[in-house]
Amino acid sequence: MTNMPIAIRPARAADAHALAALSIQVWLTTYTEGVSDLFARYVLSEFTPEKFLALLEASDVSLRVAEVDERLAGYALVRSGVPQPLVPESDSELCTLYVQEPFTRCGVGSALLRAARASYDGLWLLVNVQNLRACRFYEKHGFVIRGSTDFVLGEGRHRNHVLATPLRD
Ligand SMILES: CC(C)(COP(=O)(O)OP(=O)(O)OC[C@H]1O[C@@H](n2cnc3c(N)ncnc32)[C@H](O)[C@@H]1OP(=O)(O)O)[C@@H](O)C(=O)NCCC(=O)NCCS
Repeated sequence: MTNMPIAIRPARAADAHALAALSIQVWLTTYTEGVSDLFARYVLSEFTPEKFLALLEASDVSLRVAEVDERLAGYALVRSGVPQPLVPESDSELCTLYVQEPFTRCGVGSALLRAARASYDGLWLLVNVQNLRACRFYEKHGFVIRGSTDFVLGEGRHRNHVLATPLRD
């Protein structure tokens, strides 16, 4: 999948089903080994076409997709107006950056991140401390660790780094 043309564009309503399907696939691949009832219920309620359609209507959300050969390869979702005490200078959260597995390590994530960063003065995000691939990716893009927080799902607590773009001089 190298040297493929990657097109970045704003998401539209017709993308809603593909966004939901890709999200479920990427989330399960990234965070699970085997699908428990809890995980199944989580992805099926969290990633629905209806929720993506609502995001597209929201004025505080920016949703961009990456296409390869007119198929969805990944997306980036940023929401503004989300305060993070560890990053007082920015209230814009990169909520989701997902690339479908066959397109990883081909520059798709970087292209989506560049497009997202171009629209905001600064960004913060959460990344699971065990997601070493994503940690390396954000480190390569200059993000710095500001602290940590827990993501709670059922009985499980999952440690996340709070990362932020570097402060400007
Ligand atoms: C993390 C993720 C977004 C990276 O996207 P990507 O399209 O694979 O990244 P790129 O191809 O643009 O890689 C850019 C750089 O990141 C680093 N990187 C990416 N994947 C890496 C890996 N598997 N191992 C080490 N470094 C890696 C490298 O420095 C790479 O540059 P290089 O290829 O020139 O060495 C993607 O792997 C993904 O969607 N993973 C699953 C979901 C996820 O974890 N999202 C982030 C949650 S916060």
